[in-house]
Amino acid sequence: MQGSSEVPGFYKLPMEERMNVVKKLTGLSEEEARSLANTGGLPSDVADRMIENVVGGIAFPMGIAVNFKVNGRDYLVPMALEEPSVVAAASNAAKMARVKGGFSVTNTGPVMIGQIQVVEVKDPQGARTRLLERKAEILKKANDQDPMLVSLGGGAKDLNVKVLATIKGPMVVPELIVNTGDAMGANAVNTMAEAVAPMVEEITGGRVFLRIISNLADRRLVRATAVFDRDAIGGEDTVDGIVYAYAFADADPYRCATHNKGIMNGVIAVAIACGQDIRALEAGAHSYASRTGKYKPLTTWEKDANGDLVGRLEMPMAVGLVGGAAKTHPVARAAIKILGVKTATELAEVMAAVGLAQNFAALRALATEGIQRGHMKLHARNIAVSAGATGKMIDLVAQKMVEEKKIRFDRAKELVEDLSKK
Ligand code: MEV
Repeated sequence: MQGSSEVPGFYKLPMEERMNVVKKLTGLSEEEARSLANTGGLPSDVADRMIENVVGGIAFPMGIAVNFKVNGRDYLVPMALEEPSVVAAASNAAKMARVKGGFSVTNTGPVMIGQIQVVEVKDPQGARTRLLERKAEILKKANDQDPMLVSLGGGAKDLNVKVLATIKGPMVVPELIVNTGDAMGANAVNTMAEAVAPMVEEITGGRVFLRIISNLADRRLVRATAVFDRDAIGGEDTVDGIVYAYAFADADPYRCATHNKGIMNGVIAVAIACGQDIRALEAGAHSYASRTGKYKPLTTWEKDANGDLVGRLEMPMAVGLVGGAAKTHPVARAAIKILGVKTATELAEVMAAVGLAQNFAALRALATEGIQRGHMKLHARNIAVSAGATGKMIDLVAQKMVEEKKIRFDRAKELVEDLSKK
């Protein structure tokens, strides 16, 4: 960049003026600035209120995965992401799952945990007992913060108190157990945790530092199951290959990270489309996968007595329909309408089905022909476009490169030139 990154008052400037500053400092061209300033389906004033120092937006394509049947209901599933093949793979997996009735999913309710960190407590075990004795009072204080949530049946329901041995000595950690209803719940839980902190200090005689939600949302789990008909998915070898793939992930964290990444390809794509906090979902998923002290797959795969393949996914799914971008982003609102979910738990259940479908599709491809063939077709199209192909020429160039196994920019350019001459 040209100059200092210290820009006093940057946050106070209108969006266009912020962009002018960025242009001056970075040499962004008019065209580059224009594409960055385009906030797509998000009105720029809404974007400007959503986060700070806004200059524009970035759009992802949103595709619709078809064929999903979850708990007997059909869904069109919006998925937003940059990776080719994911939407097609999900649709294909969902089609195969339909042969045996689709996905069955249950959930443990929208329950989140709010942690309060208390240090310098003289009698940690005594403090723990006193906190538990005064549970009703603490829960009342928490619930006074959100009468609306309480009136809808949610609110702080329980109190758990841990005594932790830490490198800075013992810590007492009361945890509020909060039913957050149709909200993801971070705001409600954090407000409650902050509100009860003075009472917690008084009861424990210690000092409170952190008051914050936990993203290890292990009381807000979804459990999805699907049976895949052996013959519909390619026969016994495919079933065995997928079970072996799972065993590999179960035994090895290097493989397991990629196995779980495949699940998150589906989960996060739906989450982005529906305006969810994807960082919270990733944190929840991977910390849950590590809860035993070993990093494990979020799914299991086994062969049943008929020789069919049974997949199961269990993971935290902290999502909401009220508050956040799910409410303020018009595209997210449209995506939620397409999906047709009425509650946060229904959204969580569909996302679990998509995660399981995505994992199935990845393992099936990996255990059979490999994933590159499918990927390469789409990749070839992208290269064809970047080499200047338009309209029907895109498929012609892509197909030729796939046939020749030469999916490269230079070859795409040659083909575009040849076809343009004709
Ligand atoms: C690619 O985005 C996802 C996969 O690597 C997942 C997996 O390996 O299971 C194909």
